[in-house]
Amino acid sequence: MCGIVGYIGFREAYPILIKGLHRLEYRGYDSAGVAIINDENKLSVYKAKGRVKDLEDYARDKNVTGTIGIAHTRWATHGEPSNANAHPHYSQSESLALIHNGIIENYAVLKTQLINKGYSFHSSTDTEVLVQLIEYIKQLNKCDLFAAVQIALNQVVGAYAIAVIEKGNPDQIIAARKSSPLVIGIGEGEFFLGSDASPIVEYTKKVVYLDDEEIAIIKRDEDPKIFTISNIERTHEVKELEMNLSQLERGGYPHFMLKEIFEQPETLKNCMSGRINVEGTNVTLSGIIDHKDKFVNAKRIIIIACGTSWHAGLIGEYLFEEFCRIPVEVEYASEFRYRNPVICPDDIVIAISQSGETADSLAAIEMARKAGAFVYGVCNVVGSSIPRNTDSGSYTHCGHEIGVASTKAFTAQVTVLTMMALAIAKEKNTIDEDNYHSIIGELQNIPSKIERILKLSNEIKKLSLIFTYAQNFIYLGRGYNYPIALEGALKLKEISYIHAEGYPAAEMKHGPIALIDNEMPVVAIATNSAIYEKVVSNIQEIKARKGRIIAIINEGDETMKALADHYVEIPATDECLDPLLTSIPLQLLAYHIAVNKNRDVDMPRNLAKSVTVE
Ligand code: F6R
Repeated sequence: MCGIVGYIGFREAYPILIKGLHRLEYRGYDSAGVAIINDENKLSVYKAKGRVKDLEDYARDKNVTGTIGIAHTRWATHGEPSNANAHPHYSQSESLALIHNGIIENYAVLKTQLINKGYSFHSSTDTEVLVQLIEYIKQLNKCDLFAAVQIALNQVVGAYAIAVIEKGNPDQIIAARKSSPLVIGIGEGEFFLGSDASPIVEYTKKVVYLDDEEIAIIKRDEDPKIFTISNIERTHEVKELEMNLSQLERGGYPHFMLKEIFEQPETLKNCMSGRINVEGTNVTLSGIIDHKDKFVNAKRIIIIACGTSWHAGLIGEYLFEEFCRIPVEVEYASEFRYRNPVICPDDIVIAISQSGETADSLAAIEMARKAGAFVYGVCNVVGSSIPRNTDSGSYTHCGHEIGVASTKAFTAQVTVLTMMALAIAKEKNTIDEDNYHSIIGELQNIPSKIERILKLSNEIKKLSLIFTYAQNFIYLGRGYNYPIALEGALKLKEISYIHAEGYPAAEMKHGPIALIDNEMPVVAIATNSAIYEKVVSNIQEIKARKGRIIAIINEGDETMKALADHYVEIPATDECLDPLLTSIPLQLLAYHIAVNKNRDVDMPRNLAKSVTVE
């Protein structure tokens, strides 16, 4: 989704802004732009549809000198991707330039009012309305930029992270946020701005996260001043970033997605580290310990999430119900927020999100908190909005995920949910001691088993060549592997643009089996489980209709080898941990098919890494 970079200091701003835009490319975008105040106090805006490289080409012969600037990658919401719709947007007199993430919902009304006052517009964006409104207010009230932004933000409805600079005022950036993240990097006599920390981390690890409805005045050589839109001054703790630069580099891999798939043995160790004791016998999560009574007495758990995180939530449902005997509902945050759900004070709401910034999840959290539920976040990005808006939580600690298609964040989410289920079950006495120890023991074997699966990457690549030109795919799984069927299908859709659907295997005969013919690849997860025989029967039904079976099986499963057209053999594990293994070959299959099709694997079309608008 849209990305923001800003710089004010003593260095040339342009190279920092361009590098920052490259760092933000992973979020998904369709145009980019930069605004700079040069040494003669001229405010110049350069924009280009397409990639940051297109912007660089366009700006090559332009004057881009200056030590203050703002830059943006746009993911179209209002108006198609085009030069005109790209940010920054000038105000009418071209004395202000503004970049914006989010959506101004009442932009149409404001636009009409401004047109009636003689303003004209050059784009279809809501953002241009905001910058014109700020200029109008500034001129009307004869106030400074900060005051004008403050008044304007009191008039807009919607979500924003903005940065504004002003011709003739090369010493300040005004930045503000509501429901869209914004972070200020604190250097020595210089400051950075980012919609996340990735454009900042190579210059400073000290950051301040703005809260909703806060405006910052960022001046060279002065500590940033922060006020609310109702003019209350705020102070903020300076936080230390956990991110490091190597997480932002491909490290020899052709794509971030492949790097992140291969990082999983390490990321899962990090995720478990400090939570499973050195003897490997006990799991402790501080977020659970601190609120033990809440979890022990919970009448229900509601899991809210979107996309891949929602699939992790479905696995959470199986885990919490099996081990903790607490009823669980798993909800799409986008649906939950707009119906009138029954939420009780003794419900626990678990919000799962890689980015911690997903607009729908944030809105659902707000609703749950208002209804008195205890809200627990499972997030990856430290300091992001969800951890700051929940009562407690656990980070997944898998490092910065850049590939738009989530891989390592998913397995880390499932690992955290597994540890949560074990910890709660222990407190509630709903798990047998031997089973508890045996699952914890096996959980620690997962990273090395994933390493073994990763060695099959070339074998999976060969398999992928057979199916690269398939038009459709069906993914089947049951029990703990039903969510993996959904997740495998989503991975393929996202990065290869092949239509794929996941189903619980036994549901096929209730309709979808009509789709099966000798052209239909069916990826069937048929590893050991209590219902293995039933899964095999479901696969027989597909085979009888000439579907082409690609089976994920446990090593040495002769029955399935005889039945499947193709198979990938993976190590066996405890049934409840199987998703951590079965997800890996499906990530690799999607990856290799997408590469065969020459797709933009890390930045698939139309997608954004962090969905900060609803
Ligand atoms: C798919 C994917 C998305 C996200 C979804 C939620 O690979 O990454 O489906 O899972 O947009 O995002 P987060 O987890 O950041 O809330």
